[in-house]
Amino acid sequence: MAAKLVVAGNWKMNMTASEGKALVDALKPLVADVCPCACTVIVCPPFTTLATVIEAAKGSNIHVGAQNVHWAANGAFTGEISAAMLKEAGVEYVIIGHSERRQYFGETDATVNARIKAALEAGLKPIVCIGETLEEREGGKTEAVLERQINEGLAGLEAASLADLILAYEPVWAIGTGRTATPEMAEDTQKAIRGFVAAQFGDAAAEAMTIQYGGSMKPENAAALCAQADINGGLIGGAALKAASFADLVKNAVAGNSEK
Ligand code: PGA
Repeated sequence: MAAKLVVAGNWKMNMTASEGKALVDALKPLVADVCPCACTVIVCPPFTTLATVIEAAKGSNIHVGAQNVHWAANGAFTGEISAAMLKEAGVEYVIIGHSERRQYFGETDATVNARIKAALEAGLKPIVCIGETLEEREGGKTEAVLERQINEGLAGLEAASLADLILAYEPVWAIGTGRTATPEMAEDTQKAIRGFVAAQFGDAAAEAMTIQYGGSMKPENAAALCAQADINGGLIGGAALKAASFADLVKNAVAGNSEK
């Protein structure tokens, strides 16, 4: 089974509820002709914007994800949000282990693993971010870092549950910097990532897994990136904050993917 193309917008800490509604209202007609069979389109607003965006996206082909989830079912965790809370709100996907959370909020492979398990148990689909820093790349550690993030992040999962899990390869040095990995460089790394998944969970699970690229993906480079064999879409920051650029990016990703 070939991996599905998935393009997700990570709005980060942007968009109040009214701004998010305006963005989705503008996006809906622009992606209305994108067949769900060709691409799954997701937007991931901040928590307080989720309910409004879920309502605005109803009846369209736009899916909604959150940007984080706690691993506990409930309890004394001030400021946190559980998987059941997201699920009941109508959220389908959740970004886990974004490099900004690893860098600024103490996220580790162990907490990523705990969050993934809680999300899957509640019926949410995790978008799990992995990626090396510039220092790690320059030190020749890229593959070792990714292998560790995969082995520890996905530890204890059943191969069957990977059908609901997306990996997003985001080289930290390419996020928000305008410095994109070249399609060839990204492909080399994404191929290695699929290999690490295969080693842990078998070839079938690895082949079917959507592995996105993230890091300064834009309408201009989406086609070339998504034409690569092991790139199955993108996790998009900056270019997801304007309806026109996100819609163009989705369409170019579909065009690139169809060249495979
Ligand atoms: P960017 O962010 O597209 O702005 O580089 C990607 C991400 O952090 O998910």
